[in-house]
Amino acid sequence: MLEVRGLKAGYGESAVLFDVSFDVPEGSLTVIVGANAAGKTTTCRAISGEIESRAGTIRFEGERIEHEPSNRRVERGLVQIPEGRRLFPFMTVEENLLLGSYARRARAARQQALDEVFSLLPRVAERRRQLAGSLSGGEQSMVAIGRGLMARPRLLVMDEPTLGLAPIFVERTFEIVQEIRKHGVTVLLVEQNVKRALSLCDRAYVLEHGQVVMQGEGEQLLGDEGLRRAYLGM
Ligand SMILES: Nc1ncnc2c1ncn2[C@@H]1O[C@H](COP(=O)(O)OP(=O)(O)OP(=O)(O)O)[C@@H](O)[C@H]1O
Ligand SMILES: [Mg+2]
Repeated sequence: MLEVRGLKAGYGESAVLFDVSFDVPEGSLTVIVGANAAGKTTTCRAISGEIESRAGTIRFEGERIEHEPSNRRVERGLVQIPEGRRLFPFMTVEENLLLGSYARRARAARQQALDEVFSLLPRVAERRRQLAGSLSGGEQSMVAIGRGLMARPRLLVMDEPTLGLAPIFVERTFEIVQEIRKHGVTVLLVEQNVKRALSLCDRAYVLEHGQVVMQGEGEQLLGDEGLRRAYLGM
């Protein structure tokens, strides 16, 4: 579904991604792990079109998209839930959710999408009239997931959805990821909870200094001694 080859990206003078290549097969849960500053968020941004690709190709369902504006990519069903949630604090939960469905492909079905999000995330439904800024961090993170789903994604890119969450919310987030997959959505997940993410995914990529340094099936990487030492401290 997504094929990234030789991707380079950066900010101003500084190069961050040197040579990033990976695949996200349709229907899969594909994971990217890596240390802080490895370039995971930069990769997500380049895929979603928030920043430019400086070289390389990004194909979505066979078509080159690396020079398309981000709204075109959303219309294709390539949707990102950015790191840090980025909700509008002075708007209600429901208003934040509805902002997720501005794309043409999502607009017509927004009421149905809202019902689906509320049934997947009952906690969000309970708080629909509350200002987003007054929610707990864990609740805000659920709203950010809901807003991504409102865009009717075919491929959902999730950049550290569990960041800063208590263990119970982390576990709930992983459950939601699995439910999202059951609804036929392909997921590319960036995670710091390496063990949990690798145990759930089909395939994983390890990013270091803007390059993919290791890849394989989740279970296989979990058994890799180098990876265990670097990322699991064991
Ligand atoms: N807007 C920016 N301007 C300049 N440099 C940036 C910018 N955003 C990120 N960087 C730099 O790019 C590098 C990679 O950052 P990135 O956010 O992609 O890392 P990450 O793997 O997502 O890390 P983390 O796990 O901490 O979220 C870092 O050195 C960072 O300082
Ligand atoms: Mg990041």
